[in-house]
Amino acid sequence: MKAYQRILHITDSHLFGDKKIEFLGINTCTILSAVVDHIKQTGFDQGAKLTAFTGDISQDYSLASYTNAFSAMVELAVPFLVVPGNHDDKDAMLQELGESGCSSAIARQMTLDHNWHVVMLDSHWLGQVKGLLEEKELAFLRVELEQHRDKNIMIFIHHHVLPVGSAWLDKINLFNAQQFLDVVAGHDNVKAVFCGHAHQEFAGKYKHIDFYTTPSTSLQFAPQKIKFALDTTMPGYRIIDLFADGTYETKVVRLAYSEQFLPDLSSKGY
Ligand SMILES: [Fe+2]
Repeated sequence: MKAYQRILHITDSHLFGDKKIEFLGINTCTILSAVVDHIKQTGFDQGAKLTAFTGDISQDYSLASYTNAFSAMVELAVPFLVVPGNHDDKDAMLQELGESGCSSAIARQMTLDHNWHVVMLDSHWLGQVKGLLEEKELAFLRVELEQHRDKNIMIFIHHHVLPVGSAWLDKINLFNAQQFLDVVAGHDNVKAVFCGHAHQEFAGKYKHIDFYTTPSTSLQFAPQKIKFALDTTMPGYRIIDLFADGTYETKVVRLAYSEQFLPDLSSKGY
């Protein structure tokens, strides 16, 4: 087996401050704990250098929901970085990161061994469900790409960039996706972009760059739907193994089937 260093991608936990509250029929705090247990029990944390947590951490914007999330990350015991999603309150997230002693998790980039470099982008657009990379965020990206031309770049962002094939979801993706694509397409060393928000597994390609979405640790959206619909697939996460020769492998891992992880399939929205 080739030597690797691993990134864990966790996204869309949609937690409540009160651990007893359910989200469309499932307990999201319980599931995030089950995901952390799964990673540890399977040994998928071995070689893990980073957990990228790409937003929709909270469902109720409460400080306690962030306490619950960051406690789970501390339990996982892998360094982690976070960016917000549309369901997050950035001020509450930052405050709780500070109080939890995890304030370094807000760092937006990390260099790993063998010339790998990770960039986390903030697509939170206040008051909107869709995402936006503001000009200052695009400027940050350009600087990162310029300063790390000698490295292989992995980018993480909450909102999906390429359409996933569900009309309702593709109306609320990254609003200025083409602007982002124009920036990254000019850099041959950008290997892949990993997103949340879509609550399903997806893989696509733009020019030389691979694009992925990762299942939520909470409920899953049914793929290829015109309107909102939930799915019966289990919560999951993604592992990404980086090799010294500049190649990588990735796969989605899901929890074993359990009725307690099945949401109320008659839900009309969230
Ligand atoms: Fe979400």
